[in-house]
Amino acid sequence: MTSDRWLHDPDLGQVVVAEDVLHKRVAELGDELTADYEDRPPLLVGVLKGAFVFMSDLARAIALPVEVDVMAVASYGSATTTSGVVRIVKDLDSDLTDRHVLVVEDIVDSGLTLSYLRRSLLARRPASLEVCALLVKEGRQRAKLDLKYVGFHIPPDFVVGYGLDVAERYRNVPDIRVYQGPVPVD
Ligand code: IMP
Ligand code: MG
Repeated sequence: MTSDRWLHDPDLGQVVVAEDVLHKRVAELGDELTADYEDRPPLLVGVLKGAFVFMSDLARAIALPVEVDVMAVASYGSATTTSGVVRIVKDLDSDLTDRHVLVVEDIVDSGLTLSYLRRSLLARRPASLEVCALLVKEGRQRAKLDLKYVGFHIPPDFVVGYGLDVAERYRNVPDIRVYQGPVPVD
């Protein structure tokens, strides 16, 4: 048994989604995706770095021969909010033409990152493009986003864990928690 002493951190607040609840929901999403993509195994496109934990669990919950690729985007803005100006820092290795693409995102806040990504990926002419987001913050999106698969709708607090960070920390926290520490300046 590993020690969980490091999780007794005053900057970590309330648990928003517990570990067992996360795992149960990821299994459900996996079953749903297995049924929906049965005859056309998808290419999972993980958005780094935040989606790496979710994508690793989700990929194993899909009982189909999926392929996996990753891309990294950077948004200009402060440490805890996006400006909407997004830049592709690491592009995909795969050609998306005629592929069934499933974008795997950690969290949708304003939705600006996702709407930029969707436009940019659609321009590459995939056969289909859907989004699977683990978390969606309630009441924060200005435009309507077409999110086919969502893990949880959560209150609009800043959260960490299960891939999500603040200044690159807490990605390996096994559940989702409110971050209540100082806001780092970047
Ligand atoms: P959006 O463009 O405002 O939807 O922001 C999406 C991106 O901002 C996510 O992919 C995360 O990298 C980051 N982000 C937004 N909210 C949080 C949060 O509560 N914790 C950690 N990262 C977040
Ligand atoms: Mg981030």
